[in-house]
Amino acid sequence: MCGIVGYVGSAPVSETILDALSRLEYRGYDSAGIAILNSKGLEVRKRTGKLKALAEALQQEPVEGHIGIGHTRWATHGEPTEVNAHPHTDCTGTLAIVHNGIIENYAELKERLLAQGHTFRSQTDTEIFAHLVEEFLKAHPIDAAFRLALKELKGSYAVVLVSAREPHRLFGARNASPLIVGVGKGETFFASDVPAILERTRSVVYLNDHEAVELTVDGPRLTTLEGKPIRRQPTKIEWNLAAARKGGFPHFMLKEIHEQPAAIEQTLMNRLDPAKARVTFDRKTKAFLDTLHANERVIIIACGTAYHAGVVGEYMLEEFVRIPVDVDLASEFRYRDPMLDRRTTVIAITQSGETADTLAGVRLAKEHGAKILTICNVMGSSIARASDAVIYTHAGPEIAVASTKAYTSQVTALALLTLYLAKKRGHLSGAPWRRLVEGLANVPRLIEQALQAEPEIKAIAAKYAAARNFYYLGRRYNVPTALEGALKLKEICPLIHAEGYAAGEMKHGPISLIRDGWPVVVIATHSSVYDKVVSNIEEVRARKGHCIVIASEGDHAIKRHANSLITVPKTEEIFSPIIAAIPSQLFAYYVADANGCDIDQPPNLAKSVTVE
Ligand code: M6R
Repeated sequence: MCGIVGYVGSAPVSETILDALSRLEYRGYDSAGIAILNSKGLEVRKRTGKLKALAEALQQEPVEGHIGIGHTRWATHGEPTEVNAHPHTDCTGTLAIVHNGIIENYAELKERLLAQGHTFRSQTDTEIFAHLVEEFLKAHPIDAAFRLALKELKGSYAVVLVSAREPHRLFGARNASPLIVGVGKGETFFASDVPAILERTRSVVYLNDHEAVELTVDGPRLTTLEGKPIRRQPTKIEWNLAAARKGGFPHFMLKEIHEQPAAIEQTLMNRLDPAKARVTFDRKTKAFLDTLHANERVIIIACGTAYHAGVVGEYMLEEFVRIPVDVDLASEFRYRDPMLDRRTTVIAITQSGETADTLAGVRLAKEHGAKILTICNVMGSSIARASDAVIYTHAGPEIAVASTKAYTSQVTALALLTLYLAKKRGHLSGAPWRRLVEGLANVPRLIEQALQAEPEIKAIAAKYAAARNFYYLGRRYNVPTALEGALKLKEICPLIHAEGYAAGEMKHGPISLIRDGWPVVVIATHSSVYDKVVSNIEEVRARKGHCIVIASEGDHAIKRHANSLITVPKTEEIFSPIIAAIPSQLFAYYVADANGCDIDQPPNLAKSVTVE
């Protein structure tokens, strides 16, 4: 996720900004840039890759000044190139901006600005904001122009602007993307997050959505977007740097679990419109989906957690689109001589876009004439580049090795794809269609509710933390939830062996191991197979196994079947794997934590598996 820094003060500006940006590196990025104001005007430097490349560029061509902005970009619109790197300038080159988030209505704003004669250089959604301010500057002073431009934006943003007309002031604002103000001695900062400025000041002003800030060396001046002043006292930060990087959470994994409502919002953004009961994709993806044959065959390939998302996708696409789907582990697919032709679409699912087996599978499928659609979190990654179309999940960088928000955003992307194709092929319409669209729009709110059960889940985890074997069971859409829950636990707690099964498979073998107190996590949320799952619970309990049941809120009858009960909000069955994943992630986290495991960096595992 992008990192933003703004600086007003008397310290060497490029060094100060670079240093602050380096403290935001944990957010992930693929290019970086800086814009500094001095007597020559605005000077901009950008480089792809790591901050080191930008630092070298600044060493070769130093830039002096006392006010400036900097950015580390994690690509969302447009590949990670130098042109797409921030800061972006207007046509005159006298104002520059940095942005984090997604401007939902950028295409229509760009069309309008093009018609007004503006020239664009990048493929980003961000650049429109520079031109928008430029346009308003024709009739308004800069503070008003900045606020009027903000009012035009739909979507999420944190923006900071520097202008040659204003040598002593920066302008910033946020909506659903983070931006804070740091107030130091004789210097002030904008930053995406506290760690950027913690070495210089512990005095922070937190901004709310739809507030505008003018920042001078004396401090921030906050207003509403209408220009009405807002008073806010700075907060004193008590955390140390390591805690601050994790937003106050003890581990990145826990932070990322809590980021899921926002991550899913980003996956849905621009694609799901509940008010118009519409699901859509970008032009290229829609064009790709329009070429699918009536008898198209789909093969989903992926590894690990992404494979589990693929299994959910199989259930979704077969039930609602009535399209035949096979799901394959990419490491098997690439070596099993699969049957592929022009009427086959291979859907590759990958967080990193760099997994060696998935990439090899994609290349093989292409060689055999299959079409490739990728669901991916990292823009411009190898697999994204090798694909015919990409649905980016926009979940933001995932740092913990164990995938959490990447998984739920992959399942969300598959739900969008399913709804889009089901509607297009006439399998869904009227009330059932609207119910599913509304259900999907509701998912971020339901995740928030599911997260509320954290204290109870922590207590249940403490109760079972000494166990060394766990089973996870589910049926239909929640078979993959069981597989993923077990993977999460054994991944971050290598002292534990955990297996996920389709609950109906228990009696075909695994049940033989069940004995007194053996913990079995069962997903028994509201579904068409609920009664069958309850029977499976009883089979475990008959052998004295302990069932930790994840059930839907309001299901009072389940209490007598559960040794421990975790409830989640009710949803349509198709979306239940997203909601049920939340307690399962928290349970794994707290069991591992109670066992003193290295949660973010488990032994023997890598975040991105780029070797066979
Ligand atoms: O980047 P990818 O989604 O392609 O990675 C695939 C797997 O390596 C990954 O999901 C792995 O299983 C995770 N560590 C699970 O938490």
